[in-house]
Amino acid sequence: MIKVCGLVGSLRAKSYNKGLMRAAVRIALEEGIEITVFDRIGELPLFNQDLEKNLPDTVIALREAVSSAEGLYIVTPEYNYSVPGILKNAIDWASRPPMPTPLAKKPVAIAGASMGMGGSIRAQMHLRQIFVQTECLAMLKPEILIPHAHERFTTESELTDEKTLEIIRKQMINFKSWIHQLKV
Ligand code: FNR
Repeated sequence: MIKVCGLVGSLRAKSYNKGLMRAAVRIALEEGIEITVFDRIGELPLFNQDLEKNLPDTVIALREAVSSAEGLYIVTPEYNYSVPGILKNAIDWASRPPMPTPLAKKPVAIAGASMGMGGSIRAQMHLRQIFVQTECLAMLKPEILIPHAHERFTTESELTDEKTLEIIRKQMINFKSWIHQLKV
């Protein structure tokens, strides 16, 4: 089993992106990837360099989760055409200390759902831009973009659309080989 750390950029109880992550976790297991979601993302303090002198427990837990994982799986909505603050905050914490950051060379796969027609594409493009600085090795394809999320998930925010589930499976198969390739 390949160990992957999962991060979701929404705190909402019935978040579509949490539902997307639940579906991805199930599919990933069938493909030999164990995604453990870091579910304390909302407890992280806002990034403050002064706190680095005495790191909060949640930050230590995040860093351990990231550093012990062979890859990251990030599922995010789009907020105002970009990455939600909680996700950026987690990345900022995980990226320290810099040069090289603990995120350097970490294989990453991305997915997202939003209510707009772009399916989180702008947030995902901004994530890829952030990864230039953190040197995360983001897999290019397949992209998982779920537009009009309110029409594609059940009222309990479960993802049942067969075509989307199939693309997630393809992504997991590719992610496994992406992680293997980067190990060599
Ligand atoms: C949004 N939403 C949104 N949708 C989108 O497609 N593009 C956008 O730029 C934004 N911007 C945005 C900003 C803020 C502050 C909020 C709260 C929402 C709508 C968003 O897609 C919708 O709320 C999703 O349901 C959020 O994902 P979760 O929480 O369901 O995972």
